[in-house]
This record gives sequence, structure tokens and C-alpha cells, in this order.
Amino acid sequence: MATQKIKKIAIATGGGDAPGLNAVIRAATLAAIKRDWEVYGIRDGYNGLLMREEYVEGGLIRLTRERVRGITHLGGTIIGTTNRGNPMKYPVKNFDGTITEVNRLDELVRSFQLHGIDALISVGGDGSMTIANALAEKGLWVVGVPKTIDNDLEKTVITFGFDTAVGFAVECMDRLHTTAASHQRVIVVEVMGRYAGWIGLEAGVAGSADVILIPEIPYNIHKVAEKILERESQGHKFSIVIVAEGAKPAGGDLSVVSREVGRAERLGGAGEKVAADLQELTGKETRVVVLGHLLRGGAPSRFDRLIALRFGAAAVRALDEGRRSVMVALDPPVVNYVPLEEATRRMKLVPLDCDTMLTARDLGICFGD
Ligand code: F6P
Repeated sequence: MATQKIKKIAIATGGGDAPGLNAVIRAATLAAIKRDWEVYGIRDGYNGLLMREEYVEGGLIRLTRERVRGITHLGGTIIGTTNRGNPMKYPVKNFDGTITEVNRLDELVRSFQLHGIDALISVGGDGSMTIANALAEKGLWVVGVPKTIDNDLEKTVITFGFDTAVGFAVECMDRLHTTAASHQRVIVVEVMGRYAGWIGLEAGVAGSADVILIPEIPYNIHKVAEKILERESQGHKFSIVIVAEGAKPAGGDLSVVSREVGRAERLGGAGEKVAADLQELTGKETRVVVLGHLLRGGAPSRFDRLIALRFGAAAVRALDEGRRSVMVALDPPVVNYVPLEEATRRMKLVPLDCDTMLTARDLGICFGD
């Protein structure tokens, strides 16, 4: 593919952090340095370019071999991230304290040009890929890398971060089983995942939940109570119920903590609601554990480290081959490239006939339907 010669690239990490971000940064940096390119990390999403005056040491961090040494196993991102910095809907505070969303894409593209950045590697979830696609449409040379613990991105078999989140949730389920059994309680475990039930489903099946409630299947709480009472009658005096934060009762609403201009709505409270209803319907003592941001922290699993390293290196190879407006994607056994635009077209939800769902049904797990 004929292409301009690259001298300088930038990496941005956007949206909620996920284990494996630093591994992507390390692999992309080393692969770029190998090609004699300079590499910069943009601080906090695109804020390093959009809010330069806020950064005393500059909004761009030069990524060198030394800077990325020993970071593969570290959670978080060494260049920072934000989910309040969408350049298409940038939150700007007015004099009266209200917030207006402003489109700053043109300004951002000019900033890339001003800094002599030839291409961008954007690491993020659906929001970041939508922004990356919009930047590409404005002429910026962009390659995307799919990240999110939610695993809700189309066109890649998996996003990095998901495996670590599920692994941690399963470990918590193991611990909760012993305490639930000892006290003969119902324990409700709320997990993240936004509008997709991937974490809830996989952690629920691998962690031997008795009930799994996910956004894809609006639940009937009476069916869940029946399941718990049925277990009780069989001598199983405890139950573990995993609730995805986006789960909602049939005909009911999502549990939302807040809606603010300039950021996505925050979900939360689904577990509390289920627990309160179950305590009332079953008469059993019920406790709630919200795993929340614990699912996003900590060291990436072996799987996530490897995928993140492969994604980071593949993103640089894509640039070297002159590919534009693509997202790297896992298409086992290879890492492939898919058009950015296709990757953002719709959210990847749990198919109700997928093998893990069928397995869960065969195991007798209740979905509240
Ligand atoms: O998209 C990742 C995610 O962790 C979701 O699962 C969750 O709903 C959201 O981000 C939480 O975002 P915040 O960090 O803003 O609370």
C-alpha cells in the first residue's frame, strides 16, 4: 500500500481504564521505535492536546524504551484517561455553572498537525472508536485498538480487559459461596458491563451462580424468588445471584445513578433492588456486594497481557502497511483489521442462543425468565 512516511505517532487511551492498557502502550511504543518513529502519549484521552495549559509538563509524554519498561503487568494507563473528554461533545462550563457540549474535533485535528503527529493509535471502547472514526473522517490517520471490560465491541471476538474482569469476579464468587453457605444467605453480586451482559454471564457460569440477570433478558423477580425457594426445599439453604448493572425487570427501567451533560449515564443500584425484592419475597436474609471498579483495577490476566501486546504491535504494523481507519481485532488465531466504521455500528450483546447461554440453561441456572 503506497503511503506517506511516518516519523511521529501518538497514542491515546480513552474512556474507562481496563487491565492491559499499559501492555498495548509498551508493545506499540517498542514496535514504533524499532521502525525509528518517535512516539508520544497524549495525556488523559485527548485532554493533553485540548487542555494543554492544564499540563505543567506538557500534554504529550515522550514514550521511550525506558518509559515503557516494566509496565506490561501494571493495571491502569501510564498516560491517563478520562470519560469526560469526548472532543465531539466536549463539556464546557458556562458562567452560570451550567455545562454545554461543544464539538472540538477540528481544533483537535489542527493540534495533531501543529505537533507534527503523522498518525494516531486510539485505544478504547465504543465511545473512543466512534471518536477515532470521526477523526479519520476529518483526514487524520488513525488505527483503533479495542479495549473494554464490557466486551461489547462488535467485530472483535474479545476486547482486552474482559478476561481479567471475569477472572476477578469468579474469584469473588468462590469467596462469596463459602460465606453464603455458612450463613444460609442469599448473596447478590452486582457486576459492571453497562448495557451488555457478558461479564455477568461468563462470571456467573464459571463462578457457579444460581441466578444470572443480564440486560439482554428482562427479569421477572418472582421467577428468581421461586428458584431460591426451590433450592431451599432441596436443602440448599443459600443462593448466589449475579446481577449485571444493566439488568432490569420486565417492563421496568434501568437503574441509573446519574445523568450528566458531557458524559455517559452512570448505572448502579440494580443489585440493591434485586436484593431488597428477594428478601421480601423469600424471607431470606440477603446481602449485596457491588464489585464495581474492582473489576477494572489490578494486573491484567495472562490472556489480556498477551492480547494487549499483540494488539499494540499489530496497530503499528497496520500503520507501517499504510492501513487507515481500521481497528485491530481478534479473529482467532490471527489479529485482523476491520473498518473502524463497522466496528462502531452497533453494540455486541449476548446472543441468547450462544453456547455459554445454552450451557447455563442446561446447568439449571435461572435467568429470571
Ligand atoms: O465501560 C466500562 C465501565 O466500567 C462500565 O462497565 C461501567 O458502567 C462504567 O465504565 C463505569 O464508569 P465510571 O468509571 O465513569 O464509573
